[in-house]
Amino acid sequence: MKTGIITISDRASKGMYDDLGGPALKSAATGHGWEVVEEAMVADEKREIQRAIREQVVRGCVLVLTTGGTGVALRDVTPEAVREIAVRELPGFGEVMRMESMKITRNAILSRCLAVVVDRSLVICLPGKPAGAVECLGFVSGAIPHCVEVLQEIPTSC
Ligand code: MTE
Repeated sequence: MKTGIITISDRASKGMYDDLGGPALKSAATGHGWEVVEEAMVADEKREIQRAIREQVVRGCVLVLTTGGTGVALRDVTPEAVREIAVRELPGFGEVMRMESMKITRNAILSRCLAVVVDRSLVICLPGKPAGAVECLGFVSGAIPHCVEVLQEIPTSC
């Protein structure tokens, strides 16, 4: 499953600190057997986020994982950016990620993590904290292969 990863962070994109979220997600995705073929880093700017996602989708990524920009800070614009280019939202992903994360940290209620469909690709937007991103991916990973198969119109057993 061709996968793209995008780190969304003003500070990491300016080189003010190392990107830890992207590599953490890459290792988690690889662990699930998914092939990470694209990696990008952008600032918390709607246009940059949208361009990076579209680029990875056009290059054949059927799954795009983003980390960052899902919180409550005014610079956090990932949900607004992805909703503008989505054909639909898949609310179950955000619901499960928040419900399960609440068992780990009460701050999970602040996360606006979500999943949408862009073109025929599944885009999952995860929190910026590397551990949070990996945890949230783990809560929904079971549904990802079937979701991608349906979007790609690959015959499935259910
Ligand atoms: N979810 C999990 N599973 N684990 C975490 O540590 N951190 C939370 C939350 N979700 C966290 C989590 C915190 S501290 C915040 S502020 C929000 O995600 C939003 O994160 P973001 O602004 O970095 O995207």
